[in-house]
Amino acid sequence: MAEMTTGTLPLRHAAIIMDGNGRWAKKRALPRSAGHVAGVRTTEKIIEYSCKIGLEYLTLYAFSTENWKRPESEVSGLLNLLNSYLDRLVSRLREDNPVYRYAAIRFLGDLTPLSEEMREKIAVSEAFCRSKPEIRTHVNIAFNYGGKDEIVHAVNRFISENPGKQIDEKALSSYLYFAGQPDPDLIIRTGGEMRLSNFLMWESSYSEFYSTATLWPDFSPKSFNEALTAYSSRSRRFGGV
Ligand code: IPE
Ligand code: IPE
Ligand code: MG
Repeated sequence: MAEMTTGTLPLRHAAIIMDGNGRWAKKRALPRSAGHVAGVRTTEKIIEYSCKIGLEYLTLYAFSTENWKRPESEVSGLLNLLNSYLDRLVSRLREDNPVYRYAAIRFLGDLTPLSEEMREKIAVSEAFCRSKPEIRTHVNIAFNYGGKDEIVHAVNRFISENPGKQIDEKALSSYLYFAGQPDPDLIIRTGGEMRLSNFLMWESSYSEFYSTATLWPDFSPKSFNEALTAYSSRSRRFGGV
């Protein structure tokens, strides 16, 4: 697959911290759950737009390992939204919806707390995508994902498979959930905060960071293009001159 270029700077992988659903709802005197419902609509639009423009890798931060701290009702609402998204995804893949024709969707993170029913829907969608003859856009949905958890998980797997051996950067990378994928070139955060919140800690070592005050439900393909344009004028040096 050819590299996408924004201006002169190549971009293979964009990742998004989809933040601000709660504030979006609060501004409208709606419950936080309404913000999450609106947020899922944005997520689906951005996935479709990324497929349309042929972005090679898109990673979306949907639920962090710390988000379990939220009230039980909010957490179960988010799990229900994931479940209904999975139903839509499975049927879109089955009907060979043109939007998803060249897309491979994966769920990355510790999925063990999800119900067996949800894990089955994830397995079905991922298997379906793996069988496609041609993939142009890889979509990663980070769910119950934590950058620290990912590293600890990788190191433990390495130790159990390579007793007594020392780990190096290449070996560690190959045990991450994101093994085999290019590091994100650009990390976008909506909602205005300037932090990583435990997202892609290993992979983001040289990512360009872009924060926008736009709340996730208001984010659009146009906002995405603005982020891509801002990225294209960055100067990346990777420690060189
Ligand atoms: C992002 O929106 C969605 C998740 C973290 C699951 P928030 O729910 O964090 O919204 P704010 O930050 O409270 O506005
Ligand atoms: C980051 O947002 C996690 C996701 C978008 C899934 P949070 O709302 O959880 O982050 P903090 O608490 O503001 O750092
Ligand atoms: Mg938030």
